[in-house]
Amino acid sequence: MIKVPLVDLKATYEPIRKQIFESFEAIFDKMGLFLGENIQAFEEEFTRYCDANFGLGCSNGTDAATLAIKAFDFEPGFEVIVPSHTFFATIESVVHAGGVPVMIDIDPKTYCLDPARIVSAITAKTAAIMPVHLYGQPADMDAILRIAADRNLKVIEDAAQAHGAKYKGKTAGGLGDAAAFSFYFTKNLGAFGEAGFVTAADKDVFERMTLLRHHGHASKFEHTLIGHNMRPDELQAAILRAKLPSLDENNAKRRKVAQQYNDAFANLDVTTPFAAENVEHNYHCYVIQSDRRDELVHHLAECNIGTGVHYMTPAHYQPAVRAIAHRAMPMPVTELLCTRCLTLPCYPELSAEQIAHVIDSVRKFHV
Ligand SMILES: Cc1ncc(COP(=O)(O)O)c(C=O)c1O
Repeated sequence: MIKVPLVDLKATYEPIRKQIFESFEAIFDKMGLFLGENIQAFEEEFTRYCDANFGLGCSNGTDAATLAIKAFDFEPGFEVIVPSHTFFATIESVVHAGGVPVMIDIDPKTYCLDPARIVSAITAKTAAIMPVHLYGQPADMDAILRIAADRNLKVIEDAAQAHGAKYKGKTAGGLGDAAAFSFYFTKNLGAFGEAGFVTAADKDVFERMTLLRHHGHASKFEHTLIGHNMRPDELQAAILRAKLPSLDENNAKRRKVAQQYNDAFANLDVTTPFAAENVEHNYHCYVIQSDRRDELVHHLAECNIGTGVHYMTPAHYQPAVRAIAHRAMPMPVTELLCTRCLTLPCYPELSAEQIAHVIDSVRKFHV
């Protein structure tokens, strides 16, 4: 029987195999490993791609989000408003940066931070709002930026899933005061190891990010801040440079697969993803909702189709959260979605046969 894995890393590697090994050879010949040529070139290329003012490579997406928050040097006890329906790293980054996560519910259509629920979560300690562009769909940034501007709050995008996604023609990562990306290998732009990226709108914030990334190292023998080792890796930067030129084309292919699924599932008892009119979703995850989610997972596994659940348990119910200072607002949408969401394979390399197999298998379950 035809097999459809949830992700296919080998398929992302084949087209760039030669280019990667040529760059590796050049890197090893020079041994320019410390914040080397590829990192510097990728920083310029990806910053330009996001249309951001400043950008910096770093170690991974969790560190990127931590770095982005820390760079603002908020007052002790500061709060950051985040969604609970996200990968747990969003919450961790607030805590690692010394803040208190304040978790709120998501919009039932976009699955991103619900702007209507932000204001009632704001206190005198709120310093920032951190929308997550979940599954590759940008949050409602105009509404979020308006709330933030009225109250002098910062907006830090968690763009870990949103490479190349667009909001009103503008690219994710260049929409707020700062943004964090992950290049975890399953992402639309993925390294073959760990890597991340931060952008900043403001030069002072960028300079603080630069210091924090590398031990607060201001000059050869001077450390002006207690920083971190969050340096990026030269080999991963070479891989990302090889992949970046095809990101837009690959995102368009994902949108095409998503459209085929949407059309095929239109009359079934599932909720297909909603993409707001003014956004370009990158379909990092193609997520449907089903009343019989767990049975459908089982059925698709029997059809050799890989699926995922993003996410099974809301962040505010995670055991780790009990031990930290946090607040959680009422979460009806998040709690329901966690019982119903299911991620189907959706990537550029899927063959017509694989797509047809997913469609047939989902349909058969519903007859
Ligand atoms: C929404 C979100 N935030 C943060 C991260 C953390 O990125 P990383 O795994 O590179 O640390 C991820 C990665 O999966 C993510 O999906």
